[in-house]
Amino acid sequence: MTHQYVALSAEQKKELQDIALRIVTPGKGILAADESVGSMAKRLTQIGVENTEENRRQYRQLLFRADDRIDSCIGGVIFFHETLYQKADDGTPFVKMIKDKGIVVGIKVDKGVVPLPGTNGETTTQGLDGLSERCVQYKKDGADFAKWRCVLKISSTTPSQLAIQENANVLARYASICQQHGIVPIVEPEILPDGDHDLKRCQYVTEKVLTAVYKAMSDHHVYLEGSLLKPNMVTPGHSCPTKYSPQEIAMATVTALRRTVPPAVAGVTFLSGGQSEEEASVNLNAINICPLVKPWPLTFSYGRALQASALNAWRGQRENEHAATEEFIKRAEVNGLAAQGKYISSSDSCGAAGQSLYIANHAY
Ligand code: 13P
Repeated sequence: MTHQYVALSAEQKKELQDIALRIVTPGKGILAADESVGSMAKRLTQIGVENTEENRRQYRQLLFRADDRIDSCIGGVIFFHETLYQKADDGTPFVKMIKDKGIVVGIKVDKGVVPLPGTNGETTTQGLDGLSERCVQYKKDGADFAKWRCVLKISSTTPSQLAIQENANVLARYASICQQHGIVPIVEPEILPDGDHDLKRCQYVTEKVLTAVYKAMSDHHVYLEGSLLKPNMVTPGHSCPTKYSPQEIAMATVTALRRTVPPAVAGVTFLSGGQSEEEASVNLNAINICPLVKPWPLTFSYGRALQASALNAWRGQRENEHAATEEFIKRAEVNGLAAQGKYISSSDSCGAAGQSLYIANHAY
């Protein structure tokens, strides 16, 4: 018979669950502002801004300066290592600015994807070496949750069994290390939208991937109540000729989650995955009003779908900072409503919010 030695004390479990539940308080989601230096290069080049540490600081500052309107819709902010140690113009550490709003600070702890030899271009994610020590430091420096992103691809030959198993295991191992140090793990097995597959195929693959993830989480004794899942929504491939309604996407997504994610998981925080800002909000709203029993909060942990309009409004100019912050606040408020199934779309889909944010083979 299998035996579990005690992994976490009752106090440790309570701390983890309390943090997780604070992040996904009804109507709240996560701002993913943890783009690596390389990902920031892509975002900044698009708006004609040089990718320097100072420009990245100024950009993050305009997001973190958002006023108290975001306090009711943002429960957590994910930082990149560099940002965790940056300060605002007046010398206030960014971590303090976010904590003073009652928002939980998170940190990206993976070190990016690497090839899995013997597969058709599939990957695993590295960063376990030294993770325990980094968690100790990050916890001291103010982080109470973490993110680790794994990537899976849909094609006629993928995802392979090896990629599914390897990525599930590395996510579970990461999660168990984080929990040992009082850090709530966000478990992110992202299935990319690249390809021409239909909605059914994405649902099938999502179910297989999530089943493997939660088997590995059980094997590694991860405390589910003190963890969050960051999945893709179930959507057709980017080049799929068939279009699906938000109701169909919501039904496929919630069905896949209900079949695979234990009700003990504290919350589900979707990534936006290249959907336009408006699509990501409309689909999240549809998910929340989908007529199936949903045992977890279903909310957002968006990068591109919370920042695209803000980046466009900013363009690296001081005089645009206020307008850019307002754009971010607008998307945060809309998604806060969508997370409660209360968002009525004003058909913003023709403007900037309707622009596709798809990037082929997206890295973070
Ligand atoms: P997107 O919302 O831009 O897909 O990114 C979220 C994220 O954090 C991916 O790891």
